[in-house]
Amino acid sequence: MEQLVLDSRTRLLVLTGAGVSAESGVPTFRGMNGLWENHPVEAVASPQGFQADPALVWRFYSQRRTGAADVKPNPGHDALVRWEAHLGDRFLLTTQNVDGLHTRAGSQRVVDMHGNLFRTKCADCRREPFDDTSVHPSGTVPKCDSCGGRLRPDIVWFGEMLASADLERIGEFVSRKDGTRLVFLAAGTSGAVWPAAGLVDEVRTAGGETWLVNYESAANTERFQHFVQGLSGQVLPTLAKLV
Ligand code: APR
Repeated sequence: MEQLVLDSRTRLLVLTGAGVSAESGVPTFRGMNGLWENHPVEAVASPQGFQADPALVWRFYSQRRTGAADVKPNPGHDALVRWEAHLGDRFLLTTQNVDGLHTRAGSQRVVDMHGNLFRTKCADCRREPFDDTSVHPSGTVPKCDSCGGRLRPDIVWFGEMLASADLERIGEFVSRKDGTRLVFLAAGTSGAVWPAAGLVDEVRTAGGETWLVNYESAANTERFQHFVQGLSGQVLPTLAKLV
């Protein structure tokens, strides 16, 4: 297998998707065939879906909260923790996963670009999002203490914008001018959801080297210079040479 060299001149941006959590037992979106209990995923993961049936949306996310609380990080998550310990501030991990497994594994420099399953915010007022593990499986919609409006999961849904602070943090990392060699590695992502799918092009424009670790070919595989096909829990632990 090709080796990714992580030395004192390297700065590494990692992007992870649902595939990295698959070996922990979290179902991938595409793996569910885009359906949850026969509802299109968009019906339970979009502002329009929440408007139409907020109780259904809370039932979906209650199930996901319960499921994610029971799973554990896998060797793919652990490998990224070791890479970060080696690289320090020359490491940044941006994830499309909302299950919190990277943080639970011990990763620290994490951008939760699609939000966090265990955080809630108000759909109707501007109070700060807050940590929340509560579940509402039986058709109830939790109410906001501040305004009496409807609470919702702090997830970036289909059709919503990513937080600008998150995009800035990634952009600053990519364009950092400190003489280090920029490397980008995407793992376990279908390359079909933007803006994450475009990061490979941003990094190439900035002169960086690009790697993809995925079980199947992704929608943007040909944009990467290196493609290692396999399961992230098996590939990541042996891919990097830390020097
Ligand atoms: N190791 C590596 N890759 C894997 C593994 C594994 N163990 N298992 C599955 N994969 C790959 C699949 O081949 C697929 O290409 O991971 C990818 C998962 O694709 P998606 O389910 O589309 O996940 P992701 O790319 O993270 O989806 C992006 O879409 O639905 C929205 O907001 C949601 O964050 C999600 C986003």
